[in-house]
Amino acid sequence: MDYKDLYPETFKPEDFLKEETYRYTRAGVESALTIIPEAYTSEEFYRLEQKRVFGNSWVLVGIKDMVAKPGDVFVADVAGQSIIVTRNKEGELRAFYNVCRHRGVMMLDSDCTHVRGSRIRCPYHSWAYDLNGECIGTPLFEDSDIPEDMRGVFDMGGVDKFQKEDYPLFGVSVDSWGGMIFVHLGKDPAPLLEQLGDLPQRFENYRLDEWTVVREREFIFKSNYKLVGENYMEYYHLPWVHPELIKVSRMEDHYRWQGPGLYTGMTTWPISAGDDGGWLGLPPVSTLSDINRESARFIWLFPNAALSVMPNHIFLMMTKPDGPDRTVEQTWLLCHPESLEADGAQEEIDQLVEFWTLVNQQDIDIVEKVQAGLKMNPYRGGRMCYHFEEPVHRIQNILIDKMVGLERIPDGDAVEQQPMFNRTEG
Ligand code: FES
Ligand SMILES: [Fe+2]
Repeated sequence: MDYKDLYPETFKPEDFLKEETYRYTRAGVESALTIIPEAYTSEEFYRLEQKRVFGNSWVLVGIKDMVAKPGDVFVADVAGQSIIVTRNKEGELRAFYNVCRHRGVMMLDSDCTHVRGSRIRCPYHSWAYDLNGECIGTPLFEDSDIPEDMRGVFDMGGVDKFQKEDYPLFGVSVDSWGGMIFVHLGKDPAPLLEQLGDLPQRFENYRLDEWTVVREREFIFKSNYKLVGENYMEYYHLPWVHPELIKVSRMEDHYRWQGPGLYTGMTTWPISAGDDGGWLGLPPVSTLSDINRESARFIWLFPNAALSVMPNHIFLMMTKPDGPDRTVEQTWLLCHPESLEADGAQEEIDQLVEFWTLVNQQDIDIVEKVQAGLKMNPYRGGRMCYHFEEPVHRIQNILIDKMVGLERIPDGDAVEQQPMFNRTEG
């Protein structure tokens, strides 16, 4: 069949919100086509996707280490909106739009990591907000540096019907799981737990909340963020792209590890030690079950993150789309303190960083080539290999759901660990 004739030559922007546009990707994985190339190349698609996906999902924005203490902050960009994430005096997470209620200044710079005196203070006329977003001074507040005899002049008290209590920062839903911080820009969103599905149970004995960052690094590359995810969730490319990885994560040891939730999951069991200890060099977390102690878990968290969990370290990737064909990827290597107590832990970590950087760079190089190829006019999507690419099919259908306005959580496999070469089990 000549697939290029299945679609119109060009789509109108409103087509990207219609079920009809995606009908060949909606088919079962055995006969489906990958999603239309415009999903990776079109500015219009990107604009709508920002709104429908990133503006309407729990999106990973950072990790708990970034707001360890009250008054720590970071600024995240979600769907084109600047969001302040902080921790209040009670230790709870809070998030707000980064805009002053007075004349609309963007208050914190993107590199801000802490606010002095537990106040978010506007640089323009010095209105100040506490860590719960309450407006506490306009600009008169404790330590506001305004001399006593000038206070009358600055006092907003005389302004008609003005009460500072009516002008808190605009709040944003924020929650965390496993040390990862998520925000949702939608109004009254369903709880984060619904989106995560059964992941909290699957990772129960990992005690993910206790892991801390040992290294971090940013990568920037020229491809749509989704290509990173789709590449991450299939191991079909391993023999050709990752000759080193395949030594510790053998083809025949892969299984699907996927329950209900907005995620895809894959596992390597058992992990092979490789030549030099590889993934198994550091001691595992003490509370792991026997099978977790021997398994590598690979979770793509819709829409933007990859969580690779080994018994003794985690490689976490957070992708931030910056236009249809550019992605900023923040990566962290995390370890549980128990694993760090081992002799030679720092050398093991150096080795892990080197390993993950190599694998990640191999993936970046290949997805940049995919991005380039998707611009070729006759290509309108390709067939999927059902042995390996069910997760790609699943994630593309989750994306389509969001684009057409369907809120639903896909089911998982009937068994915890599904052999991937089995055609009929879905
Ligand atoms: S704009 Fe923030 S205090 Fe004026
Ligand atoms: Fe890869």
